[in-house]
Amino acid sequence: MDFIELGRTGEKIPALGMGTWQVEANPEEGIQALRLGFEQGMKLVDTAERHNNEEFVGKAIGDRRDIFVATKVYQTHFSHDDVIKACEGSLSRLGVDKIDLYQLHWPYDKQGPTPPRKETMGAMEELVSQGKIRHIGVSNFSVKDLESAMSVMKENKIVSNQVEYSLMARGIEDELLDFCKKEGITVIAYKPLGRGSISGDRSSALYKLLGDIGKGYGKTSVQVALNWVISRGNICAIPKAGTREHVLENAGAAGFKLSGGDLERLDSFRALAR
Ligand SMILES: NC(=O)c1ccc[n+]([C@@H]2O[C@H](COP(=O)([O-])OP(=O)(O)OC[C@H]3O[C@@H](n4cnc5c(N)ncnc54)[C@H](OP(=O)(O)O)[C@@H]3O)[C@@H](O)[C@H]2O)c1
Repeated sequence: MDFIELGRTGEKIPALGMGTWQVEANPEEGIQALRLGFEQGMKLVDTAERHNNEEFVGKAIGDRRDIFVATKVYQTHFSHDDVIKACEGSLSRLGVDKIDLYQLHWPYDKQGPTPPRKETMGAMEELVSQGKIRHIGVSNFSVKDLESAMSVMKENKIVSNQVEYSLMARGIEDELLDFCKKEGITVIAYKPLGRGSISGDRSSALYKLLGDIGKGYGKTSVQVALNWVISRGNICAIPKAGTREHVLENAGAAGFKLSGGDLERLDSFRALAR
């Protein structure tokens, strides 16, 4: 497994972790898939209170204490008291003493007013000082959202921003990626396989190009696509895989480096990904 630094914490996390959206749909296979992923070195697991599967993820973790556990508080729970309550709920459902990375799921509640950022970030910092969470992260934050959250934090830093990023969704390359690099914020890439669409159409030009490039490394199209996501060094990808085969394939996406020429060939698809 390749490792990257989480924010500027000095702590290493695997460059490939595991997403869990709907992993519980097929419970037996889902648990085995998560456990196999841990064994393969994908020892970061990401969930959310909104996924309604924290208990399931906790079951997969079991007694292991070497898994980096990331979860999220939903934007309807951004008042001080709701953040604290949501975290306690997540701790209990996951069955862990501490959450390694606690993230704000989305910047705003589109259905109603969102409490002032100072109140929400204050509650997140309180959770750190109480020892309930280790690091504070966000998700789906723009540069502006990050700036406003960072400006009201006292003791802690935002260590990560979880956003969509894949060969099919490259919007963060406009400004967010550079901003995060400059500020020492790790990008956690969700939907790194375009929710499966990268391999969904095997006759697509992108899939064929990925396969063609992969031949030079003894890797599959999916492995090249995931390796591309983590190739910048400040990014952790969290593909979701519900089967043994998919987990093994994804775990094999680390441990090699695409050449500059191959990265350029993949860049030619940028225009299609906007
Ligand atoms: N923060 C947010 O707002 C947010 C939003 C969306 C997602 N997420 C997180 O990011 C994670 C990943 O995103 P995602 O699940 O939407 O999309 P994804 O990881 O890009 O794609 C998952 C899909 O790809 C398939 N797949 C996985 N490995 C494969 C392989 N080696 N070959 C072929 N197909 C493969 C999976 O099928 P099988 O299940 O059959 O293996 C599943 O259908 C989520 O699970 C969730 O934890 C966060």
